[in-house]
Amino acid sequence: MNLTAEQIQANWEEFISNIETHINGDRKQKLLDFYNKYQERIMLMPAAHKKEYHNSFPGGYVEHVNRVVRCAMKQCNLWAEEGADMTTFTREELVFSAINHDLGKMGDEENESYIPQTDKWRKEKLGEDYMFNTKVPFASVPDRGLFMLQSHGIQYTFNEMLAIQTHDGLYDEANKKYLFSYMPEQKPRTSLPFILHQADLMAARIEFEREWLPKLRGEKDSLDGQKKNFTLGSNANVKSTPSTKSKALGSIKSEGLKNMLDNL
Ligand SMILES: [Fe+2]
Repeated sequence: MNLTAEQIQANWEEFISNIETHINGDRKQKLLDFYNKYQERIMLMPAAHKKEYHNSFPGGYVEHVNRVVRCAMKQCNLWAEEGADMTTFTREELVFSAINHDLGKMGDEENESYIPQTDKWRKEKLGEDYMFNTKVPFASVPDRGLFMLQSHGIQYTFNEMLAIQTHDGLYDEANKKYLFSYMPEQKPRTSLPFILHQADLMAARIEFEREWLPKLRGEKDSLDGQKKNFTLGSNANVKSTPSTKSKALGSIKSEGLKNMLDNL
């Protein structure tokens, strides 16, 4: 799976537009400042370091997050139609949680979590374009995401903290304390965490299907595509016209990243 430079740029615009549209108050500008500060890193990040997971390609993170925002809003309507108590959270809390649910994947202020794979064998034989950056000390994705928000002065509500913390549902054992209780008073007082989890699950499943089902069916084109996807620098066959390319690259300041996008 590849994204063109234009798709990466369009996905970034959708990402920022979700903040512009749905986030209010003083944290709106803080969130915009935060994402503008780290724009070059975040717009090109993969959503995972291994192809076996999902969206492990340049721009995969933002593409995934945008899908989660869209799925969360659709799931929210479904829950409302079926009678869930919609007074327990706001639309802003839903979108804020979706936008930031995987933020911890970015790494810390200095270092990215996922960096280009340096092991030639793993890259060529296993198709791993990325590996974990050992400079980043371990923290769970939700913990790091919440830390990054608070360290940049971006406040979040109790509902948002709960939703971001538990967005992996019971796939993460650490969430049992919130989600596995039979005591009514210990259960979440809002459906927000469940809606976000369903949206994330749905998005990741769709991204898995798109990447893997054609390959598993042995479709020739997808196998060719798989080969082309194996290395970060192998996407030069995807053509962009000079005018669309320069528009898409207009907001990128780093020459290295411009060159990389130029080859997409
Ligand atoms: Fe996610």
